[in-house]
Amino acid sequence: MNRCKMFKFVNYIGKGCGVRFRSSWANFRKSCHDYDKYRRPVGSDLIAGLSQFYTGKQLKDLHILDVGCGTGLYGKALLDLGLGKMSLIDASKDMLSVASNKLATYIEQGCVLSLDHYQTPPLPYQNGSFDVVLLNMVIHHLDSVNGRTFPNAIRLLKEAEMCLKKKGIVAITTIPPSNAMNYWTSKQCYEFTHRTIQYFPSLDEYETMFIKSGLKSVQKLTFLGPGLICYENIIDSNGYLDQSWVNSACVFELATDEEMIAIHEKVHGLVQSGMWQQWTQENDTTEALGGVTLLVCHKD
Ligand SMILES: C[S@@+](CC[C@H](N)C(=O)[O-])C[C@H]1O[C@@H](n2cnc3c(N)ncnc32)[C@H](O)[C@@H]1O
Repeated sequence: MNRCKMFKFVNYIGKGCGVRFRSSWANFRKSCHDYDKYRRPVGSDLIAGLSQFYTGKQLKDLHILDVGCGTGLYGKALLDLGLGKMSLIDASKDMLSVASNKLATYIEQGCVLSLDHYQTPPLPYQNGSFDVVLLNMVIHHLDSVNGRTFPNAIRLLKEAEMCLKKKGIVAITTIPPSNAMNYWTSKQCYEFTHRTIQYFPSLDEYETMFIKSGLKSVQKLTFLGPGLICYENIIDSNGYLDQSWVNSACVFELATDEEMIAIHEKVHGLVQSGMWQQWTQENDTTEALGGVTLLVCHKD
């Protein structure tokens, strides 16, 4: 029997109550087809190493839960490295459909225990179920902008803490607002950048959330370079930002139509004048200052 068919699809508790199956602001139905063209599972090797270090177990003996797994980029990278068991959930059926294809071999082999359509929080698992809970680029999708209190993020972190086995860890990737300013995109339109970073907790805010969730942070690492997002082949044959790149970088959902036109025109102007490469080199400081940050916590 095809193992995919045996998969448990958790019933969403908000079904029929008018609650959306998705990020508070991004449209992953739009992103899902282009996401993998430009996204990289940055730090998956480090996550594999740190997971073994903190749990004291070998990768083959670990069970990792990937919350907001998206297209399964991290799942595949970790399973390719030799991870034993993986469970994945995401609020977007479209992203899960890509993940299901990507992980088909591991599903057949029984390494992927479940791939569930589920909007968190809460988490539908018993206490002490996992060695590692992954929250890669997902926390900033949970809350609407509301005084930077991040209630859903705190609730999810509490749930993640409860799901951990004794020496388990929570691994989070994010772009803190301070790092967001290192990407060239932040230099294109101030209002757009300002609007975007309101959804992203700062490192201090993460510390506060960890304390409220019964977690203790044990590692904070920032990767040099743009990290998760790829800058190659992002200009189309007409000299505009390639639409598939724009789709993959879901933050552009937060730009107004006018802002998006202005960004396209500015990039086009730079390309036409032959200044695009130089402008991005001068205005993108991710190689020197970093982009994506990895936070690792264990139970306090
Ligand atoms: C930027 S993508 C990251 C995907 C993947 N973790 C990665 O790093 O490639 C964010 C993912 O979180 C999912 N997501 C957003 N809000 C969610 C929620 N409340 N519950 C579960 N998944 C959610 C989205 O559907 C999307 O697939």
